[in-house]
Amino acid sequence: MRRRIVSLVLMVVLAAIATVHAEGKMRIEKSDFGKTRDGQPVDLYTLTNDHGTVVTLTNWGASIVSIQVPDRSGKKADVLLGYDNAAGYIADTAYLGATVGRYGNRIGEGRFKLDGKEYKLAQNNGENHLHGGTAGFNKRLWEAKEIKPADGVAVQMHCLSKDGEEGYPGNLDVTVTFTLNNKNEVKIDYVATTDKPTVLNLTNHSYFNLLGDAAGDILGHEIMINADRFTPVDVGLIPTGELRPVAGTPLDFTQPKAIGARINDQYEQLVFGKGYDHNWVINQSGAAPRLAARLSEPKSGRVMEVLTTEPGLQFYSGNFLDGTIKGKKGKVYQHRYGLCLETQHFPDSPNKPDFPSTTLKPGGKYQTTTIYRFSTK
Ligand code: BGC
Repeated sequence: MRRRIVSLVLMVVLAAIATVHAEGKMRIEKSDFGKTRDGQPVDLYTLTNDHGTVVTLTNWGASIVSIQVPDRSGKKADVLLGYDNAAGYIADTAYLGATVGRYGNRIGEGRFKLDGKEYKLAQNNGENHLHGGTAGFNKRLWEAKEIKPADGVAVQMHCLSKDGEEGYPGNLDVTVTFTLNNKNEVKIDYVATTDKPTVLNLTNHSYFNLLGDAAGDILGHEIMINADRFTPVDVGLIPTGELRPVAGTPLDFTQPKAIGARINDQYEQLVFGKGYDHNWVINQSGAAPRLAARLSEPKSGRVMEVLTTEPGLQFYSGNFLDGTIKGKKGKVYQHRYGLCLETQHFPDSPNKPDFPSTTLKPGGKYQTTTIYRFSTK
């Protein structure tokens, strides 16, 4: 009897050790996420780090599907809006979690000139071009492979965008690598090359809600944006070309402020954007990723920092979410239930010679990095 109890206790202890070991091991699992409209399989990649932080990705649109991080009491929840399967992403029109390209954000009147030649793009946002056109990078199946970088687990997504696709010149070779590491960072590395001069502005369009599981709107979140200036826009959200100081405006987030505190102010820029939908000029952008923004949610204690090599950050407060999207687990995404922090070059740069250039030439290499870093306070 005694011996049986001892061996039973031993078995329980061994099982517990095995579980801890399995949880403590960085890993990637691949599973079925559905099919494209023409029957190709779409995959879901589940990345887990040693802390049990879980990130899921799909090769449809090179999209981030979920990020599950703990609150201050250790309770995990999903801080991204998204869908339960590939069909949701295929039908999506709000760019949930997607890689956006070739040009994230707007190009005025859907046209630009490069080396004296005019290129015409889809006018899919009023008279303007938005997020790469009618079938941008969010509407394609990417090739994906698991890789093992020194600092984490990663999936590398690759696509070839043909010369003339959506009106853009050049055969463009694009690789986007998503890494989860043990610092609870989700790192996105974008690399691209072209065989003709072209313009390019890649970003990720994840909608965050640090309450977890889209438990309410994001107006109580606090945000700090490391920017003394922003690019004011016209009524169609095309920059005027001015770099305006944020000081004295409701766009001043140099000190952390609740998103909801001034969002309904009758400031012309907020009226045009129907809330926050603007590009901030990040202070001291440069070669190494720098802090662009810090988002925190007081109830859960969750914090997310955004670091990037990009010069700009589009803070979009989910103003066009209107309760028509049914997302994960049947959850309906109401007005401002998620916010985007899209690291980027400035909108309409191809038509704004004074903005940092978005031109990529043959022989050149497009290379940017953005990190979403999670913690609690
Ligand atoms: C834009 C919004 C747009 C949204 C589409 C954002 O990046 O700034 O104006 O409505 O994407 O989901």
